[in-house]
Amino acid sequence: MSPPQISLTRFLIEEERAGRIGADLRLLIEVVARACKTISIAVGKGALGGVLGDAGTAGNASINVQGEAQKKLDVLSNEILLEANAWGGHLAGLASEEMDHSQPIPDVYPRGNYLLLFDPLDGSSNIDVNISVGTIFSVLRCPEGVTTPSDADFLQPGTAQVAAGYCTYGPSTMLVLTVGSGAHAFTLDREVGSFVLTTRGMRIPEETKEFAVNMSNQRFWEAPMQAYVGDLLEGKEGPRGKDFNMRWVASMVADVHRILTRGGIFSYPLDSKCAPKGGKLRLMYEANPMSFLVEQAGGAASTGRQRMLDVQPSGLHQRVPVFLGSKHEVEAAVRYHAEHDARAAQPALA
Ligand code: AHG
Ligand code: MN
Ligand code: MN
Repeated sequence: MSPPQISLTRFLIEEERAGRIGADLRLLIEVVARACKTISIAVGKGALGGVLGDAGTAGNASINVQGEAQKKLDVLSNEILLEANAWGGHLAGLASEEMDHSQPIPDVYPRGNYLLLFDPLDGSSNIDVNISVGTIFSVLRCPEGVTTPSDADFLQPGTAQVAAGYCTYGPSTMLVLTVGSGAHAFTLDREVGSFVLTTRGMRIPEETKEFAVNMSNQRFWEAPMQAYVGDLLEGKEGPRGKDFNMRWVASMVADVHRILTRGGIFSYPLDSKCAPKGGKLRLMYEANPMSFLVEQAGGAASTGRQRMLDVQPSGLHQRVPVFLGSKHEVEAAVRYHAEHDARAAQPALA
C-alpha cells in the first residue's frame, strides 16, 4: 500500500505539534494557501474568465507604486490576498508590491502578531502569453508593543522572516514553503482542492551548469557581472572549464522553482538602467522570501556583495541586485564582485 498523502493542513499541524510553529502562524499559512488557490482558479480560466490584459481603461493604464502598468490579474490577486487575510485575527498588517503603503488590519477585526508581505502576481509580463506566473509571500513578526503597524515596522532584515513561500501557477499549481525547517513543495490536487506534500526537504545541488539572466541587459551591466558571464559563455575552453546552459522565463517564481528543483543560478544584477533604483527586484516581496527558501534548501543568496538576508531594509519597496541558487555558483559570482572591488580600491601606481 502506498504511504498516506500528507496534506498541507496535516503538515502544518505536525509542525505545530513539533513546536516549530504556533497555531496562529499555521492559520496564517492556511489562509495564504487558500487565497493562492483562488488566484490559481482565476489564472487557469485565462481569456474565458476575462482576466487577461491591462487594468484601467484604454489609454489610461493603471500604474502602481513601482511605476509599472498593472495587469488585471495584478489587481485581482492583490484584492484576493487582502480580503482573505483581513479577518482571521492572525495578522497586524499587510504590505504589497501593488500598494503604496502598508495597511494595518481594519479596526473591526482583531489584530494578531504577524506582518504579511506579498508580490500578489509575479511575472505579470507572462500573463497574456499563458506562461507560468506566481505569488510570493513573506511573514515577519510585528514588533513588540506595536498594535497599529506602519511601514517602518516592516523594515526588518530577511533573517527575521518566520515563514516564506511562493505559489507557482504553471502546468500544475505548486506551493513551496519554509517555516525555517527546510523548504517543502506541495502540489495542488485540483479535484480535491488541497495541497499535497510532494517533496519534503528540497535540496539545491551545490554545483550547476545552468544560469538564468536577462542577457539583453548585458551591455548595461557592471564590470564584474560582464566578467562573470563572459567566463560562463567561454564554456569548456574558458576559465570555468565547463559548458553552461541558459534559461530565462522572466517569472522569478518559475525560474526559482526550476533552481530549487534541479539547481542553477538566478541573477538580476545591477545595471545602468536600474542602478538609480538600486536594482530591479524588490527586497521585501521577492528577494528576501526567495533567499530564505533557497538557503533552507542548501543554496546561497546574495546581492553580489552581501548575504541577501542580512540587508537592513531602508524602504518598503527597496530594490536590490539578486544572485541566488546553487551554493558554489553563487559564491563564484560573489568572488568576481569582490575581486573587482578590491582591484578598484587599490591606489593607482605612480
Ligand atoms: P513582477 O511581475 O512582479 O513585476 O516581477 C517581474 C520580475 C521577475 O518576476 C522577473 O524575474 C523579472 O521581473 C523579469 O524581468 P525582465 O522583464 O527584465 O526579463
Ligand atoms: Mn515580481
Ligand atoms: Mn508582481
